[in-house]
Amino acid sequence: MREILAGNISRYRKDLGFTQETLAEQLGITFQAVSKWETGQTLPDTMLLPALARALRVSVDKLLGYDAFSENASYYEDDYRKEKYFWGVEPNTTCLKTLELMPPSRPLKLLDIGCGEGKDAVFFARCGYDVSAFDISEAGLEKAKRLADKARVHVRTFRADLWDYRLEENYDILYSSGVLHYIKPELRDEIMANYKSHVNEGGCVSFHVFVEKPFIAPAPEKEKYVRYWKSGELFTYFHDWTIEHCTEYVFNCMSSGRPHRHAANRLFARNVREGV
Ligand SMILES: C[S@@+](CC[C@H](N)C(=O)[O-])C[C@H]1O[C@@H](n2cnc3c(N)ncnc32)[C@H](O)[C@@H]1O
Repeated sequence: MREILAGNISRYRKDLGFTQETLAEQLGITFQAVSKWETGQTLPDTMLLPALARALRVSVDKLLGYDAFSENASYYEDDYRKEKYFWGVEPNTTCLKTLELMPPSRPLKLLDIGCGEGKDAVFFARCGYDVSAFDISEAGLEKAKRLADKARVHVRTFRADLWDYRLEENYDILYSSGVLHYIKPELRDEIMANYKSHVNEGGCVSFHVFVEKPFIAPAPEKEKYVRYWKSGELFTYFHDWTIEHCTEYVFNCMSSGRPHRHAANRLFARNVREGV
């Protein structure tokens, strides 16, 4: 919490072009107090949070890293409210690759980033991983919990926004499928650094991201916050880890009811530096 709040105060202040002094003046406090919040040395007084959030033009929830960026935050919210599982209930191939490369020989801690309705998170829990999962969609998380109950496994679910939420505990596996393209490019360095620094030694990331290709038409869904990655861009973030699997492929999709194609990069990188 401390780390997330510190990062958010600093980010939202800079986004508004405020100096620490400008923000401090609005709140009637010293700039040293703001500086201490931003380095995580101290936390703002609870009574000051509403005024701080107002000054930074965000909600208190968003400031704390637990809120969505709009009232219907996920493009899929309405589809997730329906009984049918929009993405189905079978795990995707990236799960199977993860299972092959990092089998749960002990209860490995896994985080599913952007778990949607939970098909992959539940698959991992059934295989014996210790699974946590987050998404921005409340309806998606509800369905993930129902799917876990049906399979008689436990998945710790929580709602968070990729843009604001930063990891504070370590995992053995960070898993994400079809989600990281919601991270705006200017946040990628920071978010990837946060993810990398919260993977245990010997642990891994298993990511599947959509990439731009000049010969693939844009997807029919008109999503506001989508920023496809450049082909190969994801791999560069893990140049100092052992890359055990990286590939690019094109696949058919029917998600909007209209047939279209996506290009994707899949990466499995392990936090092991050869010779260290
Ligand atoms: C293409 S779906 C993939 C879902 C799941 N990983 C799967 O493979 O079934 C993308 C997911 O990203 C979630 N999402 C979109 N923006 C997000 C954000 N800013 N923070 C967290 N999740 C987000 C959506 O709610 C949706 O569930």
